[in-house]
Amino acid sequence: MDRIRLIGGNELNGEIPISGAKNAALPLMIASLLSDEPLVLQNVPRLADVKQLERILENHGVDIAVHGRRRGEEGEGQRMTFHAADIVDTTAPYDLVSKMRASFWVIGPLLARCHEARVSLPGGCAIGTRPVDLFLFGLKELGAEIDIDEGYVVAKAPKGGLVGAHIKFPKVSVGATHTILMAATLARGTTVIDNAAQEPEITNVAECLVAMGAKITGIGTRTLTIEGVERLHGATVDVIPDRIETGTFAMAAAMTGGNVLLKGARAEHLQAALDILARTGTALSVEPEGLRVHRNGNGIQPVDVETDPFPGFPTDLQAQFMALMTMASGTSQIRETIFENRYMHVAELARFGADISVDGQLATVRGKAQLKGAQVMATDLRASVSLVIAGLAARGETIVNRIYHLDRGFERLEDKLGRCGAEIERIAG
Ligand code: EPZ
Repeated sequence: MDRIRLIGGNELNGEIPISGAKNAALPLMIASLLSDEPLVLQNVPRLADVKQLERILENHGVDIAVHGRRRGEEGEGQRMTFHAADIVDTTAPYDLVSKMRASFWVIGPLLARCHEARVSLPGGCAIGTRPVDLFLFGLKELGAEIDIDEGYVVAKAPKGGLVGAHIKFPKVSVGATHTILMAATLARGTTVIDNAAQEPEITNVAECLVAMGAKITGIGTRTLTIEGVERLHGATVDVIPDRIETGTFAMAAAMTGGNVLLKGARAEHLQAALDILARTGTALSVEPEGLRVHRNGNGIQPVDVETDPFPGFPTDLQAQFMALMTMASGTSQIRETIFENRYMHVAELARFGADISVDGQLATVRGKAQLKGAQVMATDLRASVSLVIAGLAARGETIVNRIYHLDRGFERLEDKLGRCGAEIERIAG
């Protein structure tokens, strides 16, 4: 299994291009199931999760093509075509779905277009139980009949297809919002989704659906209204830049010091995190080409944070922010409100000498001036990258084991950091 070896202590200086967002690319790819015409996605990141979803879509009969690069596009994400001319299989099997939770979301488009779907339950994962009750509630509201059979959700639409409904989610869910939004585009009549997630990735998908002919209003708000249409057509859509990658590199620069331009980053997609970073003493400025991050030399101030659905502070940056707070000049408190078990990185950060205690959802971080390199390993994607950025700032050598998590969600991580002065390499084997 590959590992990352890094020697900490170097400042980060230079430019880092921000890749297309994993969490937008995945539902955009799934949206291709809604039409028999090709959906072209531009700026798709090269990630293990994208590859895994390609396998799942191919199993349903989607033809996938990766376009060659054009002059001037060097270093950009992939341009890919997803063509679901004919859906040959409405089952998403356990061995494919169990590897990635987002693959469960195919249930919405399959049910809307083919009026039936049989999708394996995704199961729990390292960050919590992550149930699917909100998805099933929403689909039932659209008229679907749902059975659980041998670990599969078996869903059937009424005769003539799904029917629009007023759905009020009791809790904000990104995945359930994506799924019901996609399903409602082909339902008969009007669907209103109240308490919808309003993450930028939802907006990216909603705008893609509109480009495909869907009728959606309220995009970017807590209430989405969808007027069902008979069919959707093809479109060409850009994947938005990855706000979690942006925040991760911003925190890395805040930790190591230096001056980094995050090219293509969109500050409005992570304003809550940038406001918090500014309070830690990090200088941030929006430039025509992206976001500039610069540590102003006054040390890192402790700041309390609570994770919340967008526009709040993202749970996907909680681990990285905790790494930053381990070096603050005082004590900070972090409250994780989205997932019940997203503190797997705490024990690993302690290996660098960090002083963190956890009581339920609340973590108390007592900042230290200097971390020391260590052998570490993590059990999820964002936790893994928090260990990389801690290692960049720590004194001496760090080895991060089990880095396949990183490959799921960070494109060319070592290369991007290495070009900015980090001493980082991948050790194969
Ligand atoms: C998405 O996951 C992201 N994944 C996650 O990113 C992200 O952490 C999360 O949203 C929150 O922002 C993708 O976009 C592919 P949720 P999702 O449904 O949709 C509970 C990463 O590292 N819930 O918004 O699965 C759930 O347990 C990943 O890139 C129910 O109770 O998250 C959680 O407590 C990790 N019932 C809360 O809602 C349900 O039916 C929010 O989860 C569904 C969810």
